[in-house]
Amino acid sequence: MKKIQISPSILSADFSQLGEEIKRLENSGADLIHVDVMDGHFVPNITIGPPVIKTLRNYTNLPFDVHLMISPVHKYIKSFAEAGSDIITIHPEATDNLIDSIYLIKQLKKKVGISLNPNTEINIIEKHLKEIDLVLIMSVYPGFGGQKFIPEVIEKIKKLYQIKKNNNLKFDIEVDGGINFSNSKEVILAGANILVSGTTIFKENNGNIKKNIETLRSM
Ligand code: DX5
Ligand code: ZN
Repeated sequence: MKKIQISPSILSADFSQLGEEIKRLENSGADLIHVDVMDGHFVPNITIGPPVIKTLRNYTNLPFDVHLMISPVHKYIKSFAEAGSDIITIHPEATDNLIDSIYLIKQLKKKVGISLNPNTEINIIEKHLKEIDLVLIMSVYPGFGGQKFIPEVIEKIKKLYQIKKNNNLKFDIEVDGGINFSNSKEVILAGANILVSGTTIFKENNGNIKKNIETLRSM
């Protein structure tokens, strides 16, 4: 089993001091920094864009795990790469040509992630699994932090893990949305090796993010 990595979502951080929040995450054992980018069109909420990511780049050497919930995504990929993203994850519904978008991200020397909404089937991306670095399985409908985990997603994680094993593929399986101390173990046992979490990491145990990261990782 791959080492479990924790990718805290800064959506639940204090936006008035994001740089300090990112340093705090790094000092608390985070493996990646999950950046949720929303456009008020693909999802009903608006967050941040490349200029903010660029300034945050000065605060940490941890990889930026950038989750693009924007459409059309293709024309913005280059700006997110140049701003300092390390993993660029897109939704198949947000691009006219998934293969072109995958290859653009690769050409820019970034890791490619594809995200599946709760109602998007694995078979849509099955033929691309050899090419990509990560599948981000959404366990809530994207748009907001603090939503409830959709338990049916566990079967989807197991199915994807089986496909990965059967074909000896290397991509990471990351799960995003509603992860807490009661469901993290099941998510890991189903085959996930990266957990995203905003609310649990920033709010549980009076905001003791070190303890919350350790607890999520330890199952
Ligand atoms: C939802 C985002 C998630 C979410 C995670 O659209 O992609 O990253 O904010 O936050 P929690 O852990 O609060 O569900
Ligand atoms: Zn996300």
